[in-house]
Amino acid sequence: MKLWGGRFSKDVDDRVNDFNSSISFDGRMYREDIEGSIAHATMLGECGIISTEEAIALCAELSHLLKEIENGTVELTADAEDIHMNIETLLTQRLGDAGKRLHTARSRNDQVALDIRLYLRGQIVEIRGLVLKLEQVLVNKASQHLRTIMPGYTHLQRAQPTTLAHYLLAYAQMFRRDVTRLEDCLERMDEMPLGAGALCGTTYPIDRKRTAQLLGFSAVTANSMDSVSDRDFVIELASDISLIMMHLSRFSEEIILWCSSEFGFLELDDAYATGSSIMPQKKNPDVAELVRGKTGRVYGDLMALLTVMKGLPLAYNKDMQEDKEAIFDAVDTVKISLEVFTAMLDTCRVREERMRASVSAGHLNATDCADYLVRKGLPFRDAYRVVGGLIRLCGEKGTDLEHLTLDQYRMASPLFDEDIYQAIDPAVCVNERRSEGGPAPESTQKQIEILRAFLEERKETL
Ligand code: ARG
Repeated sequence: MKLWGGRFSKDVDDRVNDFNSSISFDGRMYREDIEGSIAHATMLGECGIISTEEAIALCAELSHLLKEIENGTVELTADAEDIHMNIETLLTQRLGDAGKRLHTARSRNDQVALDIRLYLRGQIVEIRGLVLKLEQVLVNKASQHLRTIMPGYTHLQRAQPTTLAHYLLAYAQMFRRDVTRLEDCLERMDEMPLGAGALCGTTYPIDRKRTAQLLGFSAVTANSMDSVSDRDFVIELASDISLIMMHLSRFSEEIILWCSSEFGFLELDDAYATGSSIMPQKKNPDVAELVRGKTGRVYGDLMALLTVMKGLPLAYNKDMQEDKEAIFDAVDTVKISLEVFTAMLDTCRVREERMRASVSAGHLNATDCADYLVRKGLPFRDAYRVVGGLIRLCGEKGTDLEHLTLDQYRMASPLFDEDIYQAIDPAVCVNERRSEGGPAPESTQKQIEILRAFLEERKETL
């Protein structure tokens, strides 16, 4: 018989039971469910809504139950629809009336709103820790490659010389923003919904602030209908996770390209690459490809959540049970992706000679050649045209700017002198780009220091 047996004259159809049941996926919130119930029982006891003895017995049995679930002596069963009913049923079997009193001034609607918040709060801390670890690896690697010259691209065409440090630090900025987004999400989630009841609060003299305090929230939710209907925080987290995946996916694409023979910039450690079942020469970047692929799956989770919520009238609707599988999948996927990606990046070998060689072809120093003329007094647009002519000449002669003769330069503009060769040396091109945020080693060093301070501020929270 169901908990609501009083009103019903028939058992629920077996298929409806299965269809309704969420225990197969919300069972993972057992710890949070128990933690929420301990706080609720404590508050009920303190407010005299249940007796002190009952409150003590409930808290003790709930703690006991937590240990039993953790060590596997108690199993959650599909007979009870969800995690909330599983725990309540077990308690009632053991404590009788006291167990039945736990649900006073509470509904599964505010209970699930609390559980999912508590669960995601823990997950956000974990995800944030993993992004910070990746950030650490990026900063360390960048500091080893302040002078590793490589091509920078636009339209995937060689554009200007830069350094690997500059490249890695670009990703470090994206992940820094991801960390702060997770922190924002955590802050907005910091409101305790218990006490909202089914939707309209309760007639019992409860103390919501006390429950919030026991659970480590800094405030209580302000409106009981909103408390049980709000899944913004789930969607916000799914968006934050989608952005992390988007960043990982772009980086993965980069790594996949860099591992190709055409680029040859990177070699993955054997532990983070796979072979082919037929082609003995292959070393495939599966990890990066899977991260890129799983990004699509996380976007799907976000889209599912947005769509589930878009037409729901207030307050709770069973549709909202669909939030869990989507957000759990997003959380699980981003965690494993961050872990393997970080390890892969940390262990890869950079082929500096290949990066440097790619800078020599493709006229990456053309802008610097024009800047040289600007320094000699020519307006930039005119300088641009002169260098355009030189690039055409290089094309005709099958050479590059470094190998044109001084006569060829002078024919294009009398402003050219012997020092042009120095000005278009890729290392000089990079070193001269000292503007804030640029690739010159002193500039990237500054970026590293700021990121190190960012990591240092968050050290204790790891
Ligand atoms: N398993 C439900 C969920 O995940 C819990 C809330 C159920 N409330 C209800 N009135 N059916 O949303």
